[in-house]
Amino acid sequence: ADIRERLDAIVALHRDREGPLLPILHDIQAEWGYIPQEAQPVIAAALGLTRAEVHGVVSFYHDFREAPAGRHVLRLCRAEACQSMGADALADQLRAALGIDFHETTPDGRLTLEPVFCLGLCACAPSAQMDQRLVGRADLAKLTRLVAEVGA
Ligand code: FES
Repeated sequence: ADIRERLDAIVALHRDREGPLLPILHDIQAEWGYIPQEAQPVIAAALGLTRAEVHGVVSFYHDFREAPAGRHVLRLCRAEACQSMGADALADQLRAALGIDFHETTPDGRLTLEPVFCLGLCACAPSAQMDQRLVGRADLAKLTRLVAEVGA
């Protein structure tokens, strides 16, 4: 269906409930994988909010993306156990190697880098996840190899 039609249906589904904005954004993200630019003014008008208010919420919650994710998503754990095992330094190396920051996608659309807060692999910290695959004792060599493996 056409974006606007689906968007109106999602807004209509939630607009009369208490606190409609987050459920609307979650449904939109589930439908398109991100919050399309054109959705924000439609939501604002329907809920009597300003565009800035809607945008503030979209950018505050890291669950919401403003652009489609890359074909693959690499998540690096930033929580305490991983931090104590050098996850911060690894994050710096990885950002430099990929040329992108967290929440960004490589220009070829291949890879998005996201932080994650505990993957349940604390015993093998630092941890990461490439798409569905969990990676323990992550280091730059291991992660760049995985990035190369998922291909262009
Ligand atoms: Fe990183 Fe638990 S803190 S996996």
